[in-house]
Amino acid sequence: MRAHVELIHEDDYIWHVGELPYGEGKVRERRLSVDEEDGSSSLSLDFPADWGRGGGVPHANTEFYVVSGSLSYGGTELGAGGYVQVPKGVPMDWIKVREGSRVLHWREYGDCGFDPDARRWADAVGEVTVLDSNRMEWTEAPSVGPLTPLYIKLLHRDPKTGFYTRLIRAKKGWTDHRLAHHPCYEEFYTLGGKMAYNFGDIDDGTYCFRPAGVKHGHFIAETDIDWIIRSDGELINWYTTEEWVKWGGHAENYDDHNHDHLPVISTLPVRSRSRGAWTGDGM
Ligand SMILES: [Fe+2]
Repeated sequence: MRAHVELIHEDDYIWHVGELPYGEGKVRERRLSVDEEDGSSSLSLDFPADWGRGGGVPHANTEFYVVSGSLSYGGTELGAGGYVQVPKGVPMDWIKVREGSRVLHWREYGDCGFDPDARRWADAVGEVTVLDSNRMEWTEAPSVGPLTPLYIKLLHRDPKTGFYTRLIRAKKGWTDHRLAHHPCYEEFYTLGGKMAYNFGDIDDGTYCFRPAGVKHGHFIAETDIDWIIRSDGELINWYTTEEWVKWGGHAENYDDHNHDHLPVISTLPVRSRSRGAWTGDGM
């Protein structure tokens, strides 16, 4: 179980010693979101000195996204926009990160466990993905209702579960007054740009982890804005319009008699100080 985090700026968070076993060099981490039941974590890594780790098998679905600096995966050099995904139980190559780099790191459905030089697990599924997102084209995302499009670069999708990681770009002026919720979680880290919405002001380094069912919206993109977004399933937006003052509203495209479709009532989410107090907008 992960807490609803919305909205934090990573600079408001403290640094911990990076928990990446068998690494050599220096790495520290900010813990953006952690599931203490299974160890799933969303981390912002900083490298005060060069850091590296030999090949081995991770115990969690593992991802790295280079925000700045450079990361070498088995000799493949990745700069800002580089991405690596390793399914749990699948052997990964050596990795080296240059001093001063900033890297986002996720572990899903497992903890930081790592077995150097181990063999592929018998029940492992999939292969390693290594991408330079700068070489990918933005594609227009399908949208419901009167919206200008959002643009996507799909970095990884699990064909069985629909779990995906993608870059999303909203152009300046993109807006949606509706509140959306969905049957899966949604997490974002802002890579650049500005947007206002019900939980606060989004800018570079802001982050949210939004559990399934939490409504969110009243979006206005004040500049072009880019995020890296992850979701633990195929994301369907269910929209609420004409919402009640504090809770409820008209079920526009979901069944409000179906308990599984109903939005959950959100309590005060985890926020960090630079985002200020939440007005309650979006309930
Ligand atoms: Fe959403």
